[in-house]
Amino acid sequence: MSDFAELHYEGNVYKLPVVTGSEEERALDISKLRGQSGLITIDPGYKNTGSTQSAITFLDGEKGILRYRGYPIEQLAEKSTFLEVAYLIIFGELPTQEEYKQWSSDITYHTLIHEDFKRILEGFPSNAHPMGVLSSLVTSLTAFYPESLDPTRSADEVRMNIIRLLAKMPTLAAWAYKNEIGQPIVYPKNSLDYCGNFLRMMFGTPAEDLDIDPTVAAALDKLLILHAEHEQNCSTSTVRIVGSSHASLYASVSAGINALWGPLHGGANQAVIDMLEAIKADGGSVDKYLAKAKDKEDPFRLMGFGHRVYKNFDPRARIIKKAADDVLGKLGVNDPVLDIAKKLEMAALEDEYFVERKLYPNVDFYSGIIYRALGIPTNMFTVMFAMGRLPGWVAQWREMRSNNEPIGRPRQVYTGENERNYVSIDQR
Ligand code: SDX
Repeated sequence: MSDFAELHYEGNVYKLPVVTGSEEERALDISKLRGQSGLITIDPGYKNTGSTQSAITFLDGEKGILRYRGYPIEQLAEKSTFLEVAYLIIFGELPTQEEYKQWSSDITYHTLIHEDFKRILEGFPSNAHPMGVLSSLVTSLTAFYPESLDPTRSADEVRMNIIRLLAKMPTLAAWAYKNEIGQPIVYPKNSLDYCGNFLRMMFGTPAEDLDIDPTVAAALDKLLILHAEHEQNCSTSTVRIVGSSHASLYASVSAGINALWGPLHGGANQAVIDMLEAIKADGGSVDKYLAKAKDKEDPFRLMGFGHRVYKNFDPRARIIKKAADDVLGKLGVNDPVLDIAKKLEMAALEDEYFVERKLYPNVDFYSGIIYRALGIPTNMFTVMFAMGRLPGWVAQWREMRSNNEPIGRPRQVYTGENERNYVSIDQR
C-alpha cells in the first residue's frame, strides 16, 4: 500500500501523506493541503472526514464489528459490568481486582450531590424534559466544584472530576425524574451497586425501600455497556470540540448531552416508541408506515433504522433484540409494540428501499422496549442513553486533552454576496 497520494491540480502535483491505523484503516492527511495548494476540503456531515486518531473504539460498519479498547462488544456485554467497562474505556485496560475495588468504592462514595441541587431542580417546571434538566445539572457541577473548570490540573484532580461525574450522573438523572413526577427524592444508598442504586432512586420512596429485581438490574447494566462508547458520533464529536477550547469536562459533557437529545441521534430511542405506539394506535399496519418512510414527500423516517457507519447490522441491536425477548419473558411482560417492532424489522429487511440503502435496525430500535419493560418512562429513555454514553464522552475528552489536540475550527466555502458599499436608508 502506498503511504502517500498525489493530487494533480492546475499543473501542480501535491503529495498527501496516507495515515494507516492499527486495523489497516487508511486516511489522507490533509493538514498541510491549504498551505500547499490553497485548497480546502468540504464534506457536510463529515461523512468522509476523520477528525482525529483514537485508540478507544474500533468499529467496522461493513462487517458490523464494535470493540472497546480491542475487546468485542459481544464479550463485554456477556461477561463484564458497566463500571468495569467504564474503567476499560477511560483508562485503556481492564482493571485488576485491586484497581476495580478502588474504582467502585470511589464511585460509590461520591454519589451524593449538594443539597442546593434541590433548589435548582425546584426552578424547573414539572413539564421540563429530563434531558434539558440533566444538561443543566451537569453544567451546574462546575459551580460546586470550581476547580473542575481548569482542565490542565493534575491527572489525580482530573480523575476526581471523572469519578464525581460518573458517580453523580445516576443521582442527577433520578432526581430530575422525581422532580418531574412530583415525588420526594431518594438519596443514594452505598450498600447498592451502580444500577441497583439508580433503580432505587428512580422507583423507591424515602418511606420504603425498593426490592431490586436482579433481572431488571442486570438488563440495565447490559444496556449501559452497549451504549458506553461509539467513537466519533455526533455527541462525542460535540464533547471533543467543546473540550478543545479548554472548556471543562462538565461543560463539554453537558454539550454532549444536548447533542444526544436530537431525534436523529440518541433521541431516536424515545422516537421509536412514539412511532411504534402510533402504528399500534393506527391499527398496527407496518406496510403503511414503510410506505411513508420511503415516500420522499413524507418527512416520516423509520426511527431506529439506518446508521451513518453501520451498513450491516448494528452489533448492539442484535444483542438488545435478544435481551428484549429474555427480559420481557423473565418479567412476564407482553408488550404489543415488541411484536410490531419485529414485524416492522422483518418487512423492512425484505424491502428493496431499505436493502438498497443498507438500512438496518440500530441500537435505538429495541432499547426503548426494554426500558419500558423495566418501568423507565419514555421521556427518560435518552437520559438512559446519556448515562450509558458517559464513559465514552469522558474517555474521548481525556484522550483529546492528553494529546493536546488543537482547538476545533473548521473552514468553509463562502457563497454569499461579493463586496458592496453601504447605502443609507433613504437611498434604498
Ligand atoms: C445513533 O453515529 C453513531 O454512532 C450514533 C449512535 C451512537 O451509538 O452514538 O449509533 C446512536 O444515533 C443511532 C441512529 C439513531 N437515529 C435514528 O434511528 C433516526 C433514523 N435514522 C436516520 O435518520 C438516519 O439513518 C441516520 C441519521 C441515522 C443516518 O443518516 P445519514 O447517514 O445522514 O444517512 P442519510 O440521511 O443520508 O440517508 C441515506 C438514505 C437517504 O435516502 P436517499 O436520499 O439515498 O434516497 O437513506 C434514507 C435517506 O432518506 N434513510 C432513511 C432512514 N435512514 C436513512 N429512510 C427512511 N428511514 C430511515 N430511518
